[in-house]
Amino acid sequence: MTNELKYFIGNWKMFGDYGSIEIIKKIHNFNTKFTKNYKNSKIILCVPSTLISFFNKKLKSKLISIGGQNCHHEQKYGPFTGSISSSMLKKVGAKYVIIGHSENRKEGETNLLLKKKISSAIKENLVVIFCIGESYLQKKNGKTFSVLRKQLKSSINKKFNHNKIIIAYEPIWSIGTGKIPKIEDLRKTFKFIIKEYKKNFSLKNHPVVLYGGSVNDRNISVFSSIPEISGFLIGGASQSSKKFIDIIKNYYK
Ligand code: PGA
Repeated sequence: MTNELKYFIGNWKMFGDYGSIEIIKKIHNFNTKFTKNYKNSKIILCVPSTLISFFNKKLKSKLISIGGQNCHHEQKYGPFTGSISSSMLKKVGAKYVIIGHSENRKEGETNLLLKKKISSAIKENLVVIFCIGESYLQKKNGKTFSVLRKQLKSSINKKFNHNKIIIAYEPIWSIGTGKIPKIEDLRKTFKFIIKEYKKNFSLKNHPVVLYGGSVNDRNISVFSSIPEISGFLIGGASQSSKKFIDIIKNYYK
């Protein structure tokens, strides 16, 4: 087992109600029991904003952290019907927030808007899980690296606190499709993201870079052969305690 901290982050998307605390409790119990074996893993569940406060109150545990799934670029309050700011997430106990998920980019979020969101979240002391990734067409046309470079460069500022940024590489064609990248390609992409990030922002340390897209308990072992992957952003499979737990178990097998 590697000594490096590995992240297992659930992205519940539009899923969950008060009863879903049972899923979190099961994951928590597993984590308590196996803490010795899996002490180098960090579990975070990014749930709908409606549930953050409730889960935090019920959970009272440091073993699992709760995060949000998006925030408005305005840091505090404002006339933005239906929106939630980073300070509002923080106040209900979120420690993390996903920003730039392709499902939100598809709704019109631009790289510049995402830069503002990242900035507002960092100011609230939230850790940002910033999603980047290419479409199938971009991949087919050999544009993967240039797309990733642009997403990183245009949304991340050199002056940001880089300890508060986790990158999640999520090829769009892989999200919810059951398709995952070829392992050689994935390794090259991870090396590229890490090199590019360090170069652009003059960092000495490696950034934390996660993989996301159709991760499940059957394919997880494939990813453990790539040391550059610091963890996973898990969508569909994180809505089931069994699947989520099996992913962690099988990763370390
Ligand atoms: P998936 O989603 O695991 O269901 O493919 C990942 C994500 O959207 O973050």
